[in-house]
Amino acid sequence: MSENIGAEKTEEHAEKSKSERGFSDPTSNHLSGPATTLDTKTGPSLPYLFEAVGIAKKFEDGQVHALRGVNLRVMAGEFIAVTGPSGCGKTTLLQMLGALDRPTKGTLLYRGNSIPDLRDPWRYRALEIGFIFQAFHLLPTFTALENVQIPMFENHLSAAERKDRAVGLLKSVGLKNRLDHFPAKLSGGERQRVAIARSLANSPSVLLADEPTGNLDSENAHLILELIARLHHEQNMTLVLVTHDIGIAQRASRIIQMKDGRIVTDSESIIVRK
Ligand SMILES: Nc1ncnc2c1ncn2[C@@H]1O[C@H](COP(=O)(O)OP(=O)(O)O)[C@@H](O)[C@H]1O
Ligand SMILES: [Mg+2]
Repeated sequence: MSENIGAEKTEEHAEKSKSERGFSDPTSNHLSGPATTLDTKTGPSLPYLFEAVGIAKKFEDGQVHALRGVNLRVMAGEFIAVTGPSGCGKTTLLQMLGALDRPTKGTLLYRGNSIPDLRDPWRYRALEIGFIFQAFHLLPTFTALENVQIPMFENHLSAAERKDRAVGLLKSVGLKNRLDHFPAKLSGGERQRVAIARSLANSPSVLLADEPTGNLDSENAHLILELIARLHHEQNMTLVLVTHDIGIAQRASRIIQMKDGRIVTDSESIIVRK
């Protein structure tokens, strides 16, 4: 746990792949195929990583309003905790940010590019976003080392480079003695550490964590939180963390509370709605 996750190799990889990916340039063809609409008000100088305006999401033929007009601006490097009662739309919001689902209304931009109109949403997910889920979502028939390498197939790494990088990531989350273990042979805390290592496979700009400590006992929850907070600090990545735990939320630089599909308080903008 004490090794430095922000190893030089990781940073070098991050820098190289960022420019190769073209994600820092809103006019890049990697992101903006013919389908992508670019907002003319958002030039390359705009500092927002995410910008959501009036995001709504309806499920089941309009019966369920999971999001009812979310406005949110996220700067690169922020650590945002999202809290709120079950069913208020936290997971839905994270899925929109990660291009796992699309809004039914509103504008949602990543570095000035419309997320729902991305030509290659799978590339965006694989290269820009690291996901950490409550239920870990490891593949049971693959070892820890193999699970961490899976997202790397989106990159042009040799088999040896993939393996080296996965070993480094697993060491950095304190699992150097668990490389060849299958998920079933790992504890909950260890599984989540594998999932965290996997989320970092391609040096993402953003970590989206959906109640990552929800399935863990308090001791492991604390260790996982420390690890995620350390990652955010060392790698200066943007972190959006959904949690019910107010103690965890207080570690964040900004707390957003949701209710009934809306943001009701945002410690950044101090907007409070009843
Ligand atoms: N795929 C889906 N189909 C239908 N309803 C959904 C779906 N996903 C979420 N919902 C509903 O949308 C609302 C918000 O859900 P969710 O974003 O998962 O809330 P939270 O993560 O805050 O608990 C809930 O009423 C939930 O039942
Ligand atoms: Mg949820």
